[in-house]
Amino acid sequence: MITRDQAWDLLTSKMQSHNLRRHCLSVEAVMRALAKHFETDAQKWGIVGLLHDGDYEFTKDDSVNHAKLMADWVRELSETDPELLEGIESHGWFHQGKLPQTQMQWALFCCDELTGLIVACALVQPAKKLADVTVESVLKKFPQKSFAAGAKREDILLCEEKLGIKLEDFVKIALTAMQSVASEIGL
Ligand SMILES: [Fe+2]
Ligand SMILES: [Fe+2]
Repeated sequence: MITRDQAWDLLTSKMQSHNLRRHCLSVEAVMRALAKHFETDAQKWGIVGLLHDGDYEFTKDDSVNHAKLMADWVRELSETDPELLEGIESHGWFHQGKLPQTQMQWALFCCDELTGLIVACALVQPAKKLADVTVESVLKKFPQKSFAAGAKREDILLCEEKLGIKLEDFVKIALTAMQSVASEIGL
């Protein structure tokens, strides 16, 4: 399997936006934490999270190829792990009307949107720091549809049905994971 360094080099060669890199690092951290929660492969889940949006600057007007292109770039590094490649590709399935199939794919689906909500919660803090965000403050913003309107609440909420994790616990896992990489993501 490709290393985290290889994945990071690939990401940064294809993605220049600071905000998008921050999103990818956030999802990586949460995916690693979720893999630990399920006692599975944190390295693999982390790389899937890190790379899931890596082709966005090339596919933003071509949603059919979103995530597919990244999976192709990873294949060019001689990667053959089907779980890793399909994990990345699964991020684009939504645009083809296909749902995630595995626990890893559902984890990516649900946490993708939650990281955006948590970043928004940090940015409204006076110091704009993740350290000042609490689980309670995220849960308070959760039903406020006009706050971070792009973060699809119904997708996040599937953590209960698809992952067997209560929303409150899902927020706690994600927030703690993002706080642990706060300096890397600059929040
Ligand atoms: Fe995406
Ligand atoms: Fe994403």
